[in-house]
Amino acid sequence: MRPIIELDHVEVSYGTIQALRDIVLSFHAGEVVGVVGDNGAGKSTLLKVITGFATPTSGKLRIDGQEVGVWDPRQARAHGIEIVYQDLALVEDLSLWRNFFLGKEIKRGPFLDARKMREICSQMLADIGLTRVSSVDVRSGLLSGGERQSLAITRAVHFGAKALLLDEPTAALAVRETQRVFRSIEEARSRGLAIIYIDHNMAHVHPLADRIVVIRHGRVSTILNRNDVTLAELLELVSARDETHPEVNAL
Ligand SMILES: Nc1ncnc2c1ncn2[C@@H]1O[C@H](COP(=O)(O)OP(=O)(O)OP(=O)(O)O)[C@@H](O)[C@H]1O
Ligand SMILES: [Mg+2]
Repeated sequence: MRPIIELDHVEVSYGTIQALRDIVLSFHAGEVVGVVGDNGAGKSTLLKVITGFATPTSGKLRIDGQEVGVWDPRQARAHGIEIVYQDLALVEDLSLWRNFFLGKEIKRGPFLDARKMREICSQMLADIGLTRVSSVDVRSGLLSGGERQSLAITRAVHFGAKALLLDEPTAALAVRETQRVFRSIEEARSRGLAIIYIDHNMAHVHPLADRIVVIRHGRVSTILNRNDVTLAELLELVSARDETHPEVNAL
């Protein structure tokens, strides 16, 4: 099966800092890839390359087998790549249904088809079990963090995203909220999205990911199949001191 996203010897430099070095990775439909590594390892930069927020200094990015030309966040979105961050940008003052359809409004002739959008949004909320919310007209600011993340993931699935990138989506969430987000991610996987998931918590990454990519100092250090490694082994591997860069261990 052809990968949805491929990075082919990608490098990213910020002045003298080399954030990514010689990255060769591919991501497939229906797969969750966990990306782990220390602070500053280059994990977020990896997602930024894919979403068009960072430009490689060299190397290629291919989406659906096609090398991308001009690549920016708009292009990435148009190609079905969605990203969810820790502090998700739902517009707090807009109602749930307006947020859900932001930039993708359904129209009837020149007018917004509010009835239809409210109906679809209401169904989505029921599907993700967000029953606490009484109406799709409430301000989005009333949602909890986990509810927002789940809604954003559901939105990506609804609008036919091919890839879903998550950068520490549960960092600010309580346990129950985190579980809700995991269910939404699993739903997105079963719908065939390619998912890249960054988290510092190995107890989150291990059960969720099919493959785990360990990044160290901007390089892919290891790629593991989840079934080949226990949580304890993963923890050990990630926290192992780095003897090739002793100066970093002192930090
Ligand atoms: N816009 C930027 N300008 C300059 N340096 C940057 C920029 N963005 C990232 N860096 C540097 O690139 C390196 C990789 O950063 P990145 O944010 O990708 O790390 P990370 O693995 O996501 O870390 P964390 O776990 O702390 O989020 C770091 O050394 C960081 O300081
Ligand atoms: Mg980061």
